[in-house]
Amino acid sequence: VTAIAIRPVMTDRLTLEPLRSEHAPEMFAVLSDPALYEFERSPPASVSELAERYTRQEARQSSDGQEQWLNWMIRLPSGELAGYVQATVTADRRALIAYELASRFWGHGYGREAVTSMLAELVATHGVRDSVAVFKCRNERSRRLLTHLGFTAAPDEILQALDVQSDESVMYRPH
Ligand SMILES: CC(C)(COP(=O)(O)OP(=O)(O)OC[C@H]1O[C@@H](n2cnc3c(N)ncnc32)[C@H](O)[C@@H]1OP(=O)(O)O)[C@@H](O)C(=O)NCCC(=O)NCCS
Repeated sequence: VTAIAIRPVMTDRLTLEPLRSEHAPEMFAVLSDPALYEFERSPPASVSELAERYTRQEARQSSDGQEQWLNWMIRLPSGELAGYVQATVTADRRALIAYELASRFWGHGYGREAVTSMLAELVATHGVRDSVAVFKCRNERSRRLLTHLGFTAAPDEILQALDVQSDESVMYRPH
């Protein structure tokens, strides 16, 4: 299995840093924001639990080599970390994307800027054909972000390939 090469990505205002386990202490503070868990999931239990997760993700692929795990930390001009963007790329070159920013950084266009630049990098460097996002139906912020980026409701063919819950929405964008 060959190692997955992942590059830093510079945007107008942000640096997207490839995930390293050393990001865990800084990201633990970012991910401890309760506003992130209004619709789903819960915060990491401890810095060491997050560091273990990041050490696994640093492999950047599943053990069978079928999936690539691409994660970038979002670094602001101030030097602080704001959150992350993430893509799981399948063997058929489809990206399942996710993103989270701490709430004190919402509403500055950082989410849109980070996700836009990740999508461009996925196409340019990782051969991604289309991107899919699964999120809770009530998560209007996420829906608006995706709509601004040209995502639309996913076709049935994509829904059938995923394990989607009744309270989840799926949006899709061909590249
Ligand atoms: C969804 C999420 C990433 C959006 O992040 P964000 O940085 O606030 O997004 P943006 O700032 O790009 O867009 C939010 C609003 O700010 C506006 N905005 C303010 N200043 C802006 C600027 N300088 N440039 C662009 N947009 C700007 C946008 O127009 C947008 O408004 P709209 O939704 O009414 O159109 C963030 O709310 C989040 O992390 N939520 C919790 C985690 C989550 O739900 N993740 C999704 C599940 S995978």
